Amino acid sequence: MSITRQPVDPIGLFDSGIGGLSVLREVANLLPQENLVYLADNAHCPYGPRPVVQIQHLSRAISQFLLEQQAKLIVVACNTASAAALVALRATFAVPFVGMVPAVKPAAILTRRGIVGVLATPVTSQGALLANVISTYGGGVETIVQPCPGLVEFVERGEWDSPQLRQLLHTYVSPLVARGADVLVLGCTHYPLLLPVLQEVAGPEVRLVDPSPAVARQVQRLLADSGLLNTAPAPPSLRAFTTGPAEPFAALAQRLLDRPMTTTRADLPLSAIW
Ligand code: DGL
Repeated sequence: MSITRQPVDPIGLFDSGIGGLSVLREVANLLPQENLVYLADNAHCPYGPRPVVQIQHLSRAISQFLLEQQAKLIVVACNTASAAALVALRATFAVPFVGMVPAVKPAAILTRRGIVGVLATPVTSQGALLANVISTYGGGVETIVQPCPGLVEFVERGEWDSPQLRQLLHTYVSPLVARGADVLVLGCTHYPLLLPVLQEVAGPEVRLVDPSPAVARQVQRLLADSGLLNTAPAPPSLRAFTTGPAEPFAALAQRLLDRPMTTTRADLPLSAIW
């Protein structure tokens, strides 16, 4: 079923929590005129340890919710949901979807030692999406995938630097650096929020690669191709919904964004989907 959308309609974005705001930030910087609507599924965060079929159900319900907000395009601002559900979402809904793809391609170009590390959630680490990206773009380099359970929880608690966080980062990052990785791909949208500490733990020689700017450019291309870039003079709106308590999400978001954002609690239309 096709749907009609206008340039003034918002871009929808979603994630299991706060992490997708690292993508929203890039989209807002590149496309400052666009109206944005974000859903954080805090009630079901983290997605990383969940069964794939559950993430698919949640992603469908969230997409349905964002379409009810008139989203003209949906950014799956979550590597885990992209790995689990992007194909199914594109097959189900009539709007364009842009998903997160681990940045193995630029990393393979950047590495001087020929060794790339990928930090990701358990679902992303085991998924076909990452395996395909590695087999397509990782030829000629050694790619080491490191699942990082627990990191998302630190980010959601707002604990973006602490001795406990540094210890966990050392557990994941130091073995990769010891094996010679000089480029690390941030394969989860929560991880850019830890960038300064990650860089310190990895050391100054290691490049950290975040795919969000490329995702923002892809959004721009798709909207331009379909004549849906917003050129209206009105100041754009930035609305967030969370399936968890609104207050802690709004407080964390404020640490990240330089634009005012309203946050409202929302229930997903799960019964219609499950
Ligand atoms: N930001 C999500 C991702 O990019 C987090 C996954 C989770 O909730 O575990 O994978």
